[in-house]
Amino acid sequence: MSMTQPILVTGGAGYIGSHTCVALIEAGYAPLVLDNLCNSSVESLARVQRITGVRPGWIEGDIRDAALLEQVLAEHRPRAVIHFAGLKAVGESVQEPLAYYDNNVGGTTILLQAMQRAGLRNIIFSSSATVYGDPATVPIREDFPRSATNPYGRSKLIIEDILDDLQRADPAWRIARLRYFNPVGAHPSGLIGEDPRGIPNNLMPYITQVAVGRLPALQVFGGDWPTPDGTGVRDYIHVMDLAEGHVAALAYLLEAGAGMFTVNLGTGQGVSVLQMVQAFERTSGHQVPYRVVERRAGDIAACWADPARARRLLHWQARRDLDTICADAWRWQQANPRGYA
Ligand code: NAD
Ligand code: UD1
Repeated sequence: MSMTQPILVTGGAGYIGSHTCVALIEAGYAPLVLDNLCNSSVESLARVQRITGVRPGWIEGDIRDAALLEQVLAEHRPRAVIHFAGLKAVGESVQEPLAYYDNNVGGTTILLQAMQRAGLRNIIFSSSATVYGDPATVPIREDFPRSATNPYGRSKLIIEDILDDLQRADPAWRIARLRYFNPVGAHPSGLIGEDPRGIPNNLMPYITQVAVGRLPALQVFGGDWPTPDGTGVRDYIHVMDLAEGHVAALAYLLEAGAGMFTVNLGTGQGVSVLQMVQAFERTSGHQVPYRVVERRAGDIAACWADPARARRLLHWQARRDLDTICADAWRWQQANPRGYA
């Protein structure tokens, strides 16, 4: 196995994928991105080149295109696949469940079939803390019960189960299921970051767009949650920490031999909406006007990781603090007020 064999990165032009390309290149791997650009811009990869001096390999295409996958795997012989490609908007998944099952579940099945035919059995999958549903207690360990309350979350549950079945049927597979908590922030260069289409659903891009003047005020979804200040508590992880978690998982996957492992990628720290607003105001020097409104349907009070397994297995832990998260998110937003457009 030579280092020149690429790592196939599906969805690699997206938010987490582009940051992971930077971390892969810095660790000496050669990312080969396959993305259909349904929720991203190829400009992100030009920016990865500006940061690292290396242009990731690039194929515009869809993971549901079996013929394309067959050709890509035969031609490039990747060592492993990091599989980010998928749709991720919870509300949209409720409106359009079939699009989510087709893209996420169907797309993953087609990818796994192509890998099986090519004799490539190393995959890292983007799962989510959403598979824990409304946890009975926090911090959340990987052995906690799983559930889903929307089609997006259910697509993650189903894919986790498919991977489990596959590894049982053919123990030669090496599979990592990484459950991300809340990815936020941006590369410290300000060159790549999160670029949501339309009005953001998620807290951090909403805050930065209020601060930059694109949106008038933050709506805080509920001030009566059973949390210290009444607002929702989450585990916000810097996207570069998350990216480095993938590099650690890849090294472990390639070294440890066959098998499957499931790990939380989080910080282990809970942060409330108001704490996030305060941290952002402190580091950016900008006010974030807000008002407390009704709870958002489907939200939970508190969710944070027990990150011990990732530390033990992968020798990885998040190291960037909340101020760094806010400063980096703000640098990206200021330098790119309209994203990549
Ligand atoms: P993103 O939308 O920025 O990136 C996903 C990428 O996949 C996009 O570039 C999109 O164009 C591409 N894509 C989608 N369908 C495709 C297809 N059929 N074929 C080829 N490319 C396709 O999202 P992200 O935040 O970077 O998330 C990456 C992964 O991590 C997703 O699977 C997501 O569900 C998962 N995840 C994200 C979060 C989060 O909060 N961002 C949390 C947990 C899990
Ligand atoms: C979101 C996804 C979830 C995914 C998780 C991890 C939704 C509904 N859920 O959850 O599937 O697994 O990210 O990435 O998108 N908030 C506000 N005002 C806003 C936006 C958010 O008060 O305008 C609050 C929320 O109520 C929550 C916190 O901020 O307490 C974080 O919200 P968000 O960024 O959307 O992430 P999650 O709800 O954790």
